[in-house]
Parts: sequence; C-alpha cells; structure tokens
Amino acid sequence: MTELATRLTDAERLAELDLDQLRQLVGLVDHDPSQDPFPVSGWDAVVWAVGNAVQTTHFFRSAFGMDLVAYAGPETGLRDRHSFVLEAGAVRFVIEGAVAPDSPVVDHHARHGDGITDIALEVPDVDKCVAHAEAQGATVLAAPYEISDEHGTVRLAAIATYGDTRHTLVDRSRYHGPYLPGYVTREGKALGPRTFQALDHVVGNVELGRMDEWVDFYRRVMGFTNMAEFIGDDIATDYSALMSKVVASGNHRVKFPLNEPAIAKKKSQIDEYLEFYGGPGAQHLALATTDILAAVDHLRAAGIEFLNTPDSYYEDPELRARIGEVRVPVEELQKRGILVDRDEDGYLLQIFTKPVGDRPTVFFELIERHGSLGFGKGNFKALFEAIEREQERRGNL
Ligand SMILES: [Fe+2]
Repeated sequence: MTELATRLTDAERLAELDLDQLRQLVGLVDHDPSQDPFPVSGWDAVVWAVGNAVQTTHFFRSAFGMDLVAYAGPETGLRDRHSFVLEAGAVRFVIEGAVAPDSPVVDHHARHGDGITDIALEVPDVDKCVAHAEAQGATVLAAPYEISDEHGTVRLAAIATYGDTRHTLVDRSRYHGPYLPGYVTREGKALGPRTFQALDHVVGNVELGRMDEWVDFYRRVMGFTNMAEFIGDDIATDYSALMSKVVASGNHRVKFPLNEPAIAKKKSQIDEYLEFYGGPGAQHLALATTDILAAVDHLRAAGIEFLNTPDSYYEDPELRARIGEVRVPVEELQKRGILVDRDEDGYLLQIFTKPVGDRPTVFFELIERHGSLGFGKGNFKALFEAIEREQERRGNL
C-alpha cells in the first residue's frame, strides 16, 4: 500500500498548510518512503550569496512579503558574514553577504554574482542518505555532523551538485530553535502581503551536453525519478536552443528541472546564463501561490518586473481552444501577462520575472497549479520568444 509520502515538515505545519492544500499547490503524489534509498521530507532552505544581504533582505520582505525570522552575524559570533533567515509560507531563504573582506562569500559573489549556493533539503535520516550518495560516487562536502544549542541538536551533511552548488541535508527533528544553532530570533514582519506559500521547483542550468549526466546523478545518487516533461531539440532549437528534463523526489515535493544549452544560430538563454554566472547554477525558483493574480498585482506595484507576453499569445484561437476553461477570464490573464498551460491532469497558471540581480542569471517564476503536474512546456514558444526579446535588448543574442 502506498501512503502519502511523508508528514508535513515543521515549516509546512507552521505555515498552516495541510496535505491537501500542499498536494494542490505543488502537485504531490503518493509515495512509499520505505522503498526509497534517499528519502526526502521536503525543502529545508535556499541559501543565497549576495553583494548586499542587508538590502536583499529588505527586498524580499518588502516586495515578496517574506518575514525575517532569524539572524547570525558578527554580533552572534559569525565573524565573516551577515546571514538573514526569511520565511513565507513553507519557504525559507537564507541571505548571506560578506562582512569581512576575506569571507568566502566575497569569492562566491565575485565569481557568480547574486546566486544560490545551497539548495538544502530536509531528510529524516542524514546518515542513510550520505551513505547511499557516497556509494553512488557523489562528492561528500561534509560528512554527517551535529551542532547544538539550547534549542536542541541538528544533524547535517552536504553533497556537491552542479557547479558550485551544494545540497545540505538537514535532520531538524530534535531542534526547536528559529533556524540552526548559532542563529538568534530576529523579528521583522513582511512589509507587504505574502505572495506565495510553497516552493514548487528549482531549475538548474548545466553545461552543454551534460543534462543526461545530471539527470542520472539525481536518479542514482538521490533516488529521484524522471517526470514526463521533456523538452527536446525538436521544439527547442527554433526558439531558445535548450533541452530540459525534470527529476523529482518520490512524492514530487522536490522537483528539479535541468536545462542544457543546445547548438543553434543564436546564443541561447542558457548560454547567456552560463557565461554570466560563470558556470552551472540555479536558474529560477518557482514559487507556488494560491492566487497568482493578486500576487502579480502586488509584486508589480512593489516594482518587480515580469517578462511581457505578446497579445498574440492570448488571441491565438488554437491556444484558447487548448487551455479551455480556467478560473478567470482570459482577459484578466492577458492584462497581467500570465501564461496558461493544460495537460491531461489539469492546468496551471505561471509567470516569470526578469532577473532579480545585476547579472542576467537568477529569476523567479510564480505558479498556480490546478491539477497539472507539468512545468508549462506548452508555453515554451511564447515564453522563450519573450526571453529572447530581453536578451536582444542586452546585446546577448
Ligand atoms: Fe519553472
């Protein structure tokens, strides 16, 4: 008998999500964790290295409606950096910026610009996961270890993934502090309405010709499975010359689409990312929302810029026929540039921001799922035409 993957993580419970809501938000499926060589409970945190953590933290509080909940830095004994912990719904970001000129955060930022250093995952058994990963040839960056403070003990380890990105594995079942030992509670409520409730997927851009290798890495090392979504060179090369496959944890709580550039006449958006990020890295985070219209309205009012979708997208009779009935009139989507995709399970609404840092690298997606377990493959053409218009304006096409 299969059971629904796991219990809610603490973060999900505190966000007052129940399993039915989460199933709808991020497209969960049933899964039996007893057969899983690398059981994953869910996302733990997305850790960023940025040029100015003070201001980036303000940006996420004011524009994205995240709460500042914890902090570590020189005042708490972390000498080289600021580390701000933000939450919204079940999503946790950790924003790090260098204080000391010789901090490793300076090196990371010099090489990559604002970017994601760590996609940390919550696991029930750190040692089991690391033993499996090591046996499958993964690079173990940190063997299992524990840190403690008055709130309890956390068991951690870390394995390397694409580029300079890592997956820290976290068992926080014996811990009740605000984030990790060493962090203190810091209360800084969101400066605007919350715009999302959960993290749906994190996309990685990898080197030319290495997508299948990384798909295999997630299958072998982390026990992930392939999802159906696949963008091959047949539809890809006319637009933005990329190929894409998706791997997911057993219950689909953690989903990693992986892109590689494909050879084409023009420089693809993946090539542009790889050039400006200085190698492989996390390309976009998809934030799951229950009301994408309200989220977009708020984010735009707060100054967030989205990719424009051409009116022709909404006026295309073939598209209208394909998307069928959605929860709002198409005109409401058109006004905001929200894309629609439909598959045999249902539909989804999605929209993409422009890059949020100085380099044309990391950006966000907002996604509202209504049964669809896909990623918007049907929007490929419209979306990448829009991205290419932006690339052209930057002189990188
Ligand atoms: Fe996406």
